Amino acid sequence: MKRHPSLHALSEHHHHALVQAFLIARAAKEPLGRRRMLFRRAARDFLRFWQRAGRRHFREEEEVLLPALARHVALDTQPAVLQMLAQHADIRGRIEQLAAALVLGRNLEPTLTRLGRLLHDHVRLEENQVFPRIEAALSEKEMRRLRERLTRLHGAPRRKPDRKRARKGRTTTAGKR
Ligand SMILES: [Fe+2]
Repeated sequence: MKRHPSLHALSEHHHHALVQAFLIARAAKEPLGRRRMLFRRAARDFLRFWQRAGRRHFREEEEVLLPALARHVALDTQPAVLQMLAQHADIRGRIEQLAAALVLGRNLEPTLTRLGRLLHDHVRLEENQVFPRIEAALSEKEMRRLRERLTRLHGAPRRKPDRKRARKGRTTTAGKR
């Protein structure tokens, strides 16, 4: 399926999520001793991915993507959109459960296995039903506008102030010497 370039950033995140889901499914097939270690590793990897990109990805979809679609269709008449939002809440809840289980040293397998399946189904739902709906409803101009907003939300400009701050920090330290 050919995806509009404006949605590539989100689709890349989906690809990473599918890799995570695959690693979890693969870990489940390992013998018990090795499985525990692999699940702990998969849980840590997944939570890192969530902090780095997943959380922001959900917000982009909710704050940029769906409002753009809402200008064309009533979202509450769209079963795929309603399911997508329900899955977002479900996934968020299970991630909290996973983080707590990891800290407490509990068995991660049930939560992580369920999360992996949910992620897989969720990506399929968005890629096969929600994104095509958006591509069909929005004009080319709106799609381009979407890309600008998604790119900004990805936080690329954050680096500049950080570098400035780092330079300031170096100057201050040097001045003290
Ligand atoms: Fe998504």
